[in-house]
Amino acid sequence: MNMYELINKKKNKGELSKEEIEFIIEGYTKGDIPDYQMSAFLMAVCLNHMTHEETANLTIAMANSGDLLDLSEIEGVKVDKHSTGGVGDKTSLVLGPMVAALGLPVAKMSGRGLGHTGGTIDKLESFPGFSTSLSTEQFIENVNKIKLAIVGQTYNLAPADKKIYALRDVTATVDNISLIASSIMSKKLASGADVIVLDVKTGSGAFMKSYEDSLALANEMVQIGTLANKPTYAVITDMNQPLGRAVGNALEVKEAIETLNGQGPEDLLEVSIALTSYMLLGAGRVKSAKEGKDLLLETIRNKSALDKMAQFVNAQGGDSEFVYNPGLLKLASIKYDLKSPSDGYISEIRTDEVGMASLLLGGGRVTKDSKIDLSVGIFIHKKLGDKVSKGETLATLYANDDNKRREAKKRLLNAFIINKEKAARPPYIYSVVTKDGVIKIV
Ligand code: URA
Repeated sequence: MNMYELINKKKNKGELSKEEIEFIIEGYTKGDIPDYQMSAFLMAVCLNHMTHEETANLTIAMANSGDLLDLSEIEGVKVDKHSTGGVGDKTSLVLGPMVAALGLPVAKMSGRGLGHTGGTIDKLESFPGFSTSLSTEQFIENVNKIKLAIVGQTYNLAPADKKIYALRDVTATVDNISLIASSIMSKKLASGADVIVLDVKTGSGAFMKSYEDSLALANEMVQIGTLANKPTYAVITDMNQPLGRAVGNALEVKEAIETLNGQGPEDLLEVSIALTSYMLLGAGRVKSAKEGKDLLLETIRNKSALDKMAQFVNAQGGDSEFVYNPGLLKLASIKYDLKSPSDGYISEIRTDEVGMASLLLGGGRVTKDSKIDLSVGIFIHKKLGDKVSKGETLATLYANDDNKRREAKKRLLNAFIINKEKAARPPYIYSVVTKDGVIKIV
């Protein structure tokens, strides 16, 4: 077997065997296959596509390229959620405590934010003293004791994906369904959860802008999870505007806590509940997503999810007082209201521009090593379909530097499109993909 022949085979629309895919992944991870050959291969995949079987074999080969987490010391069915990424997406902070409050173990490994989307690990560091680097023993002990622990990606999970993703980023080979699905699922399979729920975002702030592409990605990932014998569901949710109203680390934590306290925005609660109800269904805890929804709403009503958040923050070195009094979270010193330039209705929010405005304030990373300011961000007052009068506040910027505030303001103003005609509000949830087919919600 040699790489030249395998590139040629894919160039001529051939189907690669499991052994051939393993040869490529092992060779590239070890450094035996150079970047220029791997780049040519990835481009051939983008142009000629992979079959479902090739994609599944690629995923398994990448998952096996590094550590496979063994969570067998954790009692019960381990459930995990992964989002394809969005602006204002703080669902992990809402659903983790809800599921744990119902007694299901959540052992979560999360990433930091890069570019215009945020990461759970950064958000959690808004709690002074909070540690996201626990030893394996501590991680397992916390999950067994309080059912919830969230740590950064300290293990060597799917190193083949890390190397390939960096190459895809600079060779215009990111946007291929097989490559995205295998990249996400290789990390999920390596991280040891028994049940996987995927939040596939669709819309202007998402990786996949169209519903059709989001559905294809969701289908591919559910097939991979099913082949790996893990109950897998993908919920397709809206990202044509930020989720909730808060964008930026501490602001998002505050909104997540308010949601757990029954005072959060409706879209965030609905999306979190939908994802969580499929976690419960996959774990066999309920017979239907509807039954799950009722149980979850009760964890908000009786404050058990809020108490779980407090226990979790304490267990990882933070102060639970911040959970009961989120006003203690440090926010930036300059508060600036962005006013509407005209009368009308919000007909479009360029969601990735909102993310970019938050990044310009210092709330996101331009490169992997950028330092971020957890206290800055944006609070959105007007969302899609809302009526607005000239001079009314569209959004509030939280800044620590007036130059950055000015740059971000320009960007944010461009993100709001105001029209005379009333625009329809997009749904929060479009559909759910299961191994048995697609359940249409709208
Ligand atoms: N997220 C990933 O982890 N991989 C991709 O390829 C795209 C999004």
